[in-house]
Amino acid sequence: MFMASRIQTRAFSASARNLSKVTVLGAAGGIGQPLSLLLKLNPKVTDLALYDIRGAPGVAADISHINTKSKVTGYEPTPSGLASALKGAEVVLIPAGVPRKPGMTRDDLFNTNASIVRDLAKACAESCPEANILVIANPVNSTVPICAEIFKARGVYNPKRLFGVTTLDVVRASRFVSEIKDTDPADENITVVGGHSGVTIVPLFSQSKHPELSTNAELINRVQFGGDEVVKAKDGAGSATLSMAMAGARMAESLLRASHGEKGIVEPTFVDSPLYKDQGIDFFSSRVELGPNGVEKILPLGEINDAEKKLVEACLGDLKKNIEKGVAFVAANP
Ligand code: NAI
Repeated sequence: MFMASRIQTRAFSASARNLSKVTVLGAAGGIGQPLSLLLKLNPKVTDLALYDIRGAPGVAADISHINTKSKVTGYEPTPSGLASALKGAEVVLIPAGVPRKPGMTRDDLFNTNASIVRDLAKACAESCPEANILVIANPVNSTVPICAEIFKARGVYNPKRLFGVTTLDVVRASRFVSEIKDTDPADENITVVGGHSGVTIVPLFSQSKHPELSTNAELINRVQFGGDEVVKAKDGAGSATLSMAMAGARMAESLLRASHGEKGIVEPTFVDSPLYKDQGIDFFSSRVELGPNGVEKILPLGEINDAEKKLVEACLGDLKKNIEKGVAFVAANP
């Protein structure tokens, strides 16, 4: 009797663990569509919920014809549609918001995107307070603190479950290095720390296979401002969407692997971090080990050289202001 119930419990928890609902908010956008497509191709996703203020049912109908097992549902842009999209989600990705046009910084998006992210965070706090929230909408340095403030105000803040997606900076860094060194980018594991805009993006090449690159100003600048290349080339039609979709899908996949019990999954990501709290900086991106509870362990920066120490210094000033701006926004516009 005892054995039977133990086996049953185990069987139940194993199947419950393997049912992963993933929700995309902003699913009909430039990032949202290819991101949803990649999630449909991921066998770990069993239920894919797509929400947008326009067009999600159409995107869902299209993607739902792809012959993988997951169920795809598109939701109407109503409060109850949003709540249903979020109920039971294990991972929520938020690419909702406007992208940059040439000449804009990510901070220029603040006025529009801050309220979009605030309102979506409220819905998440209400309908899926235990989900992993992956914020893609820019400026990430401010939108992540906005989510945290909303969750705190409702008493459901879990710092282990909130992530700013900085994966694209890591993807770009490894690709750019592979172009210089004529190597396979899969072998170029570059750590990028700090935040997700301009000088707050700090690649640590001294920790890579090519430490001499840590003084390559042109490469560092390309990693910090790589997004601008895409904004310029798209000439008013938006910013990175396809590479971002790949990066967002990779981050979601890493979280799902970790939640399904895989060990040693590490991704640089922007989280509530102890690393610079003594300087009043509550969020910082560094290598984070993921686990079934979200953040398992925040890894320190490790050994960095003098050139990189200067980059971190420059990062901290801007990052502090970006974080404070997000916190102040919620205080003034709760
Ligand atoms: P987009 O304009 O093509 O798509 C945004 C989508 O969000 C649209 O379909 C829109 O209808 C939807 N939306 C707007 N308000 C909404 C709301 N309240 N609820 C649900 N959906 C809503 O923009 P794109 O290119 O997809 O970029 C989205 C965001 O991602 C931008 O803020 C951009 O700056 C950011 N981004 C972040 C990156 C990162 O590395 N974290 C990289 C590239 C872009």
